[in-house]
Amino acid sequence: MCGIIGYIGKKQQAKEVLLHGLHTLEYRGYDSAGMALWMQNQIQLIKAKGKVSVLADKVNDDAINSHIGIAHTRWATHGVPSEHNSHPHQNKRVTLVHNGIIENYHILKEELLQHGYTFTSETDSEIAAAYIDYCYTQTNSKLEALSKAYHELKGSFAFGILFDDDPSTIYAMRKQSPLVLGTSEDAQFLASDISAFLAYTNRYIILQHEEIAIIKEHQIEIIDLQQNVLPKEVIVSELDVQAIQKDGYDHFMLKEIHEEPQAVEKTIHSYMQDSIEELKESLSYLKDIDRIHIVACGSAMYAGMIAKSLIESQARIQTDCVCASEYRYQQPIYTKHTLAIFISQSGETADTLAALQMAKEEGCLTLGIVNVVGSSLAREADHVLYTKAGPEISVATTKAYCTQVALLSLVACYFAMKQNLLDANNISNINKDLKNISSTMESLIQQTSYRDLAKHLYEKEHIFFLGRGLDYALCMEGSLKLKEISYIHSEAYPAGELKHGTISLIEEGTPVIALATDMDLYEKTLSNIKEVKARGAYVILLISENLKEHVTNDACDDVIYVPETSKFLQGVLTIIPLQLLAYETACLRGCEIDQPRNLAKSVTVE
Ligand code: G6P
Repeated sequence: MCGIIGYIGKKQQAKEVLLHGLHTLEYRGYDSAGMALWMQNQIQLIKAKGKVSVLADKVNDDAINSHIGIAHTRWATHGVPSEHNSHPHQNKRVTLVHNGIIENYHILKEELLQHGYTFTSETDSEIAAAYIDYCYTQTNSKLEALSKAYHELKGSFAFGILFDDDPSTIYAMRKQSPLVLGTSEDAQFLASDISAFLAYTNRYIILQHEEIAIIKEHQIEIIDLQQNVLPKEVIVSELDVQAIQKDGYDHFMLKEIHEEPQAVEKTIHSYMQDSIEELKESLSYLKDIDRIHIVACGSAMYAGMIAKSLIESQARIQTDCVCASEYRYQQPIYTKHTLAIFISQSGETADTLAALQMAKEEGCLTLGIVNVVGSSLAREADHVLYTKAGPEISVATTKAYCTQVALLSLVACYFAMKQNLLDANNISNINKDLKNISSTMESLIQQTSYRDLAKHLYEKEHIFFLGRGLDYALCMEGSLKLKEISYIHSEAYPAGELKHGTISLIEEGTPVIALATDMDLYEKTLSNIKEVKARGAYVILLISENLKEHVTNDACDDVIYVPETSKFLQGVLTIIPLQLLAYETACLRGCEIDQPRNLAKSVTVE
């Protein structure tokens, strides 16, 4: 979802830094791009519908002398993707880029129209530009104008702002939407995330709510809304530029799947070394919990479904898993000892953040499971556990999801131990499996020619996923992955439910991806699989290695064997073939894997 980059400094040309930043932010998802450069004593706008490369072609040679500018990739919310709706927006003396949504834009627009403002786009962002200009006229001070606008603009925003009477400064402020500031001796940056300027500096400052950044060539000053100067900590990022390169892989998604074993290992070892018993101490703040709500969006919610299944079956604590956009309006019921877990790769998903806010207002204990250090969710939850996936660039999540599942498995183990439902033997087996998990994952990535299997899928219009229990939770993620990147319609069904209607869609050759890795339920699942196979379905069966004798011709056409491991860890393994099948299918269809149409990596609007 919208990406912002801003630059001021003599060493590089602004257009180069901005285009590089926009390319790095492409992963967030966008449909148009634009930049504003100070050139020949005025601000010039360059905009393009479509890719950043189209914008790059439009930047003319005069731009080489520009050393200050702001730029944006837009994911349309108000108004179609088009040049006139793309950012930066300019209204009178103010030019800005905006990530977020101004919820009261129509009220402000009415007010501005009465004061003679006119508009050329359909966006809420242009209203913000005009409103800041209006405040500037009223106060005759840029900082007072920004402060007044901060109070009046409702919703969420991260702004990079230029004033046309101040060619040496970029201003920035944020409410909810992410914004970080990069700093070095002779150049300063602002961006939606640090990857956008990491090639130039790894030193950054997190801009907080109700703060304004005054960014000049040699320094960044942060003030509060009353114009008091605030001390600011400069953080040195451990991120490596290499981590955001494709490293010889055709796509980030494939690279990230290959990084899963390492990422899972790193995540697990951040919380325990030799035994899950160490969790008893490190997670001891989760005591007396009698009910759990798990709240998230997209794949993070599907990771939550696995946790729900594990916590309920293995720890016997009532657990609900709800998508964040519904949770807020469901009037959730809290006991005195409810724990609400919020899962998010980015830590910036608007619905998840809003749900967290609500749970906190209800006095509920909150735990964030987050990948991005210092993100809003990480800062706002009572406790946070970090997944160690590293930067994930592909819009369709793979390694972040895997690390979420791994970390949630540890949380489930903790609750099961707390409830005295794991004996010494269980604990020792889980420890053994945890030791081997990354090498087992690696072998599964290499095991099969997923491309050959995908050849049976890529020309189909509908694909079904079937499974029970944990397998059903995995089916939902597998189906989402396939839909997201290959655009093939697909549905995940509890294996026993299909015959209550949807089996009528199964005809000769309809692909069914069937999962039988949940050792408690595989027998019943196999019967359901035979029902669809008998009706002509083309079945690819994912089954535990130790169930080989059940793999018969009336059960499947192709088979993928998944190594058996503890129930707590099964999800981390079983998802790998599903991700690779989705990837190979999308490749065969010639899809744009890393940036699927209409999708955004980090959804910062509700
Ligand atoms: C978007 C992404 C999904 C992701 C979801 C939640 O829809 O495309 O891949 O699962 O947001 O994102 P989060 O950052 O909160 O995990």
